[in-house]
Formats: sequence, structure tokens, C-alpha cells
Amino acid sequence: MSRDADCVQFLQWALPRLGLRWAGFWRVRWQVCRRILARAREVGVEGFGGYRDLLEGEEPGVPGSRAGEWKRLEFLCRISISRFYRDRGTWQELEKLVLPELAGTSGSREKAYLRAWSAGCASGEEPYTLTLLWDELREAHGDWPELRILATDRDPHLLRRVRASAYPEATLKDLPPALKSRGFTRHPGTPEAHYRLRPSFRSGVHTVVADVREGSPGRSFVLILLRNLAFTYFDEEGQRRALEIVLNALEPGGVLVIGGHESLPEGTWPLEPVGRQGTLYRHAH
Ligand SMILES: C[S@@+](CC[C@H](N)C(=O)[O-])C[C@H]1O[C@@H](n2cnc3c(N)ncnc32)[C@H](O)[C@@H]1O
Repeated sequence: MSRDADCVQFLQWALPRLGLRWAGFWRVRWQVCRRILARAREVGVEGFGGYRDLLEGEEPGVPGSRAGEWKRLEFLCRISISRFYRDRGTWQELEKLVLPELAGTSGSREKAYLRAWSAGCASGEEPYTLTLLWDELREAHGDWPELRILATDRDPHLLRRVRASAYPEATLKDLPPALKSRGFTRHPGTPEAHYRLRPSFRSGVHTVVADVREGSPGRSFVLILLRNLAFTYFDEEGQRRALEIVLNALEPGGVLVIGGHESLPEGTWPLEPVGRQGTLYRHAH
């Protein structure tokens, strides 16, 4: 069997045991499989087969000598790819159809600030895109409330990168030039930190380590971004649980944003689609 076939076979066996969905990993399988092969070498076993033998006989969640290895495998399966203004159509619809309405509803006008949650925020590309866009619109409209964004991820290493807020150029390639110059200063000669976010944009974004499967880090959010995480990588049950958590945390009239290649799990949900991208849903209750 080829190495790719071995990789696919291993992931198809292991991912469902972690509550994860093989189809979500198809494109990124080699990123994960390279880590698994490195781990197999580290623990002195031969390839995917040897690593599977190591895991077998010790199911995830069952205490025992290899339960820790399943945790380790889950960590190896992490995908943190992101970029600013990812899924341009979603941000354009947010700008036109959602953000003005959130800022202008009578309840919002009485509030000093609104709350948004970026769940699985990676290195900050998503929450900072939102903060840049909100700032631009707020400046144009004058009377918008402040937007405070809770940026959560289960990986503390990524949250340190959110706080450092320095990015390579490739991460910003989709960002409209006006937002790029509004938000960043250039530092040539430091490719990994070529662009640094201006400090004033950091203050509205707070980071918390949190696993989205374990509940929400708060309530009364008017906007929740759960993109390229639950509805790509979690199995059906995990997706439904994540959606229930989100719905409990989202205000009536608030909006859920999902990824451009994602769809909601089957079921009847109190959500109404907004716009034409299929990525925005208003909480109907
Ligand atoms: C592919 S990135 C998506 C980043 C961003 N939301 C976007 O769409 O560009 C997925 C992120 O979710 C995080 N993540 C994975 N599982 C998680 C979980 N159970 N709870 C919270 N974050 C998780 C990963 O660490 C990673 O930063």
C-alpha cells in the first residue's frame, strides 16, 4: 500500500474514535500524517501500523497506559490554518447586511458595547478582521457602540500569537488595502512578523483558552463566529452539540457565522439564513 493509502486508512480508523470527521481532514491529511509519523518515530514504533498497534486496545477516554497517547493524537490532529478576511463574500455580507443592523437596533443603542465571540480563533486573523471592519464602519457612522470580542481557542500557544499580533504578509493577502493600512504597520526584514497590528486594535479583543465542546465562555453575544472548526472537523454529534452551545450563547436576533465550505448539521434549528453566501444565520428566538 502507498504511504498516502496508509495515511488515509489510519485517519479513517482513528478520527471517528476522537469524535472527528474524516471528510474534514481530506485536504490537510498530510499535515496531520507527517506529525503522526514523527510521533511514531519518537515512541519507537514502525509507521502508521505500529502507531495504530500502540493505540489499539486502549480506547479514547478509558483510563490506562495509552489513554494519554489518544490525547496526544488529538493534539497532532490540530489544524490552525487561517487568514485575514477569509471568505471575502461572508465579510462583505456582514458589512452590508448584519453589522449595521446589530449596531442600530434599539436595544444596541442603549448599550455601551456589544459582544462577539470568535470560537477557534487561531492566531487572531478572524477576530482582528472583525475589529478592523467594525472600527472602519463605526468611524463612518459615528454613533455605533463599541464591539468587544472574546477570542477563544483550545491551544494556548495560538492565543499567545493573538496577543503578539504580528503576521507574515501571506496571511493578509485577502484583506482590502484600506483595512490593511488602517490596521498594520510594516516591518521589513522580519518575514514571520512582517506586519504588526496597531496596538489600538488589540484592546477590544480578549483571549481565553476554551474548548468549544465544553460550553460557551459567556452569553449574550450578538455575533458568534464558528468557522472552519466544528462544521468541518467534528462528527455529526459533535456538530450538533457545538451548535446547541452556540445557540444558548447567542442573543435573539444575533447572528452565527460559519465557514464558506460548511453547512449546519441536519435538524430543525431556530436560525434564519441571511444573505446569499450560506454562511450567516440569524437567531430567530
Ligand atoms: C482551521 S482553524 C480556523 C480559524 C478561524 N476560525 C478561521 O476560520 O480562519 C481551527 C481553529 O480551531 C481550534 N480548535 C480546534 N479544536 C477546538 C476546540 N475543540 N475548541 C476550541 N478551539 C478548537 C484550532 O486550534 C484552530 O485554531
